[in-house]
This record gives sequence, structure tokens and C-alpha cells, in this order.
Amino acid sequence: MTLSAIGLSAMRSGRIILHPTSVEIEPGARIGLVGASGSGKSTLGHALIDALKAQGLQVAHVPQSPDEALDPLRSLAFHWHEAAQARGLADGAAHQRAIFSALKIDGGDLRKRPWGWSRGMQQRFVIAMALMGTPDLIVLDEPTSALDPVIAAATMNLLDRHLERTNTAMVLITHDLGLAARRVSHLMVMAAGRLVEEAETGKILNNPQTSEAKRLAAHRNWMEVPC
Ligand SMILES: Nc1ncnc2c1ncn2[C@@H]1O[C@H](COP(=O)(O)OP(=O)(O)OP(=O)(O)O)[C@@H](O)[C@H]1O
Ligand SMILES: [Mg+2]
Repeated sequence: MTLSAIGLSAMRSGRIILHPTSVEIEPGARIGLVGASGSGKSTLGHALIDALKAQGLQVAHVPQSPDEALDPLRSLAFHWHEAAQARGLADGAAHQRAIFSALKIDGGDLRKRPWGWSRGMQQRFVIAMALMGTPDLIVLDEPTSALDPVIAAATMNLLDRHLERTNTAMVLITHDLGLAARRVSHLMVMAAGRLVEEAETGKILNNPQTSEAKRLAAHRNWMEVPC
């Protein structure tokens, strides 16, 4: 079933930060949401998640900052247990072992509060929670921003395999066109709270139409980034 959200918009402090925007996502599609800082990517991500959840769909979210996903007063074990329960899994123990090992956070002490782990470990923990179960869509907002390039690449590879196995759709929010170019088949380009261009990744990289897409594609060193 195509995931569809029509007329998403947002206003903050009397200012429109997201102009009415409609998004359609095919099952298993991999879409990159790109644009300059402040262009409205996270805002559109949040609006999309809210709209799809209101339709009864399951959406996993890896927010831009782990602080948005983790309660500083609760242990990581509590977060894990709560996420497993919310997805109807017994305790997610087998999944936990496999995924923690793949994400290289298996040495982490789950009895600790989030701040007892590094930012990078917290970010991977939140990704591990998102990979539990089979949501209709995973929205990842700058998922590798706190990771070194090698761990970032390994994390994205793991994510790729998971999406393939479960045919889960993904929206990858990033200002890093190098990351997007390797991981998604379609790009949506944002500027000043609007979706200004939408096309296959290759088309936007090789033949961008709008000034915003041209500006992003002009950074041709994106092929050298390891993830
Ligand atoms: N709570 C808020 N109050 C006022 N303005 C806000 C609020 N949240 C976001 N904005 C503004 O809305 C615009 C879009 O913000 P948003 O966080 O969606 O951008 P972004 O593309 O995700 O940026 P970045 O790449 O830096 O994460 C920005 O100009 C931001 O300052
Ligand atoms: Mg953002």
C-alpha cells in the first residue's frame, strides 16, 4: 500500500515553517530528504510521522538528536523493554544480541541512563530500537551525524540489509548528499519550508533543475565519502 500524506504544514511563532506539502511513498521505497540547514527537513519528517501514525500506520523514528528519543531519567534497558512491548515483541532479546553486536554497542551497560553512554552509542541505540519489528516506514533524521565514517558506513549497511529483508520504506533526512547518493533511489529537495524538487537520485545529481538542487549537486566530492 502506498503511504500517503497530503497537505502537511507547520507553523511556529506565527511563521510558516512548512508550506503545504504532500508526500507519497511506495512500499520499500528509499527516499532521501535533503536541503540546507533550516530548510524544513526535520519539520517535514515530524509532520509526516504524525500524519501516518494518525492513519494507524507504524512508523519508527530516529530523531536528529538522541535526546528526543531517550528519557534521561530512564535506563537504556527500560527504553528497550518499552519499545519491544510497544511493537508486541516478548522482550526482543534475540534481536537485541544480534543488532547490538552488528552496531558495535554490545559492550554497553543497559542499566545506565542515556548520558552514561557516548552520543554515538546513544545514536546507535536509537537506531537499534527503530530496527525492532517491521514498521511501515522508518524515518531517520541525520542518523550518522555523531558517528565516525567507518561506523557510519557499517550502520548504514546494516540498515540496508534490514530494509531489504523486511521491505520497509525509508525516509533518510540528511544534508549530506554523499550519504543520500549511496543509499536512496529518490531525492526530495527542500528549501525555505517547501519541497522544491523531487526526482530519481541520479537525475538530481546529474541534471538538477532548481537552484537549491544545483547548489547541493555542485559539491561533487560526495563520491569520496565512505558511507
Ligand atoms: N520550535 C520552533 N520555533 C520556531 N522556529 C522553529 C522551530 N522549529 C523549527 N523552527 C524553524 O523552522 C525552520 C526549519 O527547521 P528544521 O529543523 O525543520 O530544519 P532542518 O532542515 O531540519 O535543519 P537542520 O539541517 O539544521 O536540521 C528553521 O528556520 C527553524 O529555525
Ligand atoms: Mg533537522
